[in-house]
Amino acid sequence: MASKITAPRGTQDLIPPHSARWQELEAKIHALARRFGYAEVRTPLFEATELFVRGVGETTDIVEKEMYTFTDKGGRSMTLRPEWTAPVVRAALEHQMLARGPQRLYYVGPIFRYERPQKGRYRQSHQFGVECTGYRGAEADAEVISLGWELIRAYGIEGVSLRINSIGDASCRPRYRQALLEHFRPNIAQLSEEAQRRIERNPLRLLDSKEERDLRFVASAPHFEDFLCEECREHFASLRANLDLLEIPYSIDWRIVRGLDYYTRTVFEVSSNVLGAQSTLCGGGRYDDLIASLGGPNMPAVGFALGIERFLMVVEASRGSAAAPRAGIQAIALGAQARATLLPIVGELRRATEIPAFMDYEERKLLAHLKIADRNGARFALIVGSEELASGQAVLRDLEGRTDRRLPLLSPKDVADALVEATGGSL
Ligand code: HAM
Repeated sequence: MASKITAPRGTQDLIPPHSARWQELEAKIHALARRFGYAEVRTPLFEATELFVRGVGETTDIVEKEMYTFTDKGGRSMTLRPEWTAPVVRAALEHQMLARGPQRLYYVGPIFRYERPQKGRYRQSHQFGVECTGYRGAEADAEVISLGWELIRAYGIEGVSLRINSIGDASCRPRYRQALLEHFRPNIAQLSEEAQRRIERNPLRLLDSKEERDLRFVASAPHFEDFLCEECREHFASLRANLDLLEIPYSIDWRIVRGLDYYTRTVFEVSSNVLGAQSTLCGGGRYDDLIASLGGPNMPAVGFALGIERFLMVVEASRGSAAAPRAGIQAIALGAQARATLLPIVGELRRATEIPAFMDYEERKLLAHLKIADRNGARFALIVGSEELASGQAVLRDLEGRTDRRLPLLSPKDVADALVEATGGSL
């Protein structure tokens, strides 16, 4: 027997009924973004590798070991999008959007990272994210945070917390970097291998180490708070004041440094207590130097991205696995003549109403048809057999209440109208 081909490790098929949850979330995202005045961007699945090397940073995990990079037939190095911020900035620059003033952009779609797959961590995952360009003030930071927060609130998710931090800018970060080096260097032999590797290139990343061996030294490390320059300190104070104005609860976590190199000043994460090890639902921050480093003007920006898979895991944990509400009508024809009667009625329902209509074309017993109706999650069954044909009255069965009523078999339009009325049309 030929061996079965399965989906690549770390990827997932999205199949019913789960796909309905995604559609519901995507619809909420589009509506929410619209209310905040954000417009959608879609960029190619692959980009020049150079974009991520320069944008995300050479010493990041993403660029060092997680990118899906290939050489195309023209000999160019291409990379599947591991994150959206650099591509969105690239597109905004390419289409001269930034010259037109502040931009508010959002996106929903896949990212690719060659990571070790586990619960909540995939090689192809999906992000909803926003990028707001052109504002130096912390109102914009608070705006993007409140947009993400609103999605969480709309779902009534509990056990979620927002943590914020400031990682300074080009003027104050070197001093903090130096302080960290001085703190960790004397203990270098006792640190994890990963920390030893990172220390010279990116000592800030040691702060978010999860290695037992590092934690003792991380706990006693100096805090950025004591090294921020005056402007960065003011920005952070303004962010806190703006979050208070918007009544968004947060805590300060000086260990947040984020895994991408483009951040300046504000960084933040939202995590959930139901996710286990991969608990970060959403992460982002300000990146005032990225646009210039990709060849654009000196223009500030701030944004975040939320992991759709993780978000839906949290939604499911908080909702439980309640069955989806029943919807639609199963047309059940017993015999060829009944099929010919019901087909145009189903056609009319599909053309002229919002009611989902299902029909099975095989010759089966009523019981088997009703099982199919259950599988389709239909709320009603419209049943026609020889008796109904003779009396000119179909049976409309409420599959939830298990009650029957009669419906005259008039023209397809009349029957469809009667069905809309009988079912409230809200199926
Ligand atoms: P990030 O922290 O790398 O940030 O990713 C944001 C979120 O995407 C994570 O918190 C997580 O929920 C989800 N995510 C990332 N990788 C995976 C994975 N392998 N499996 C499942 N979920 C994943 C960024 O990507 C930045 N571009 C965010 C940003 C936008 N900063 C400014 N603007």
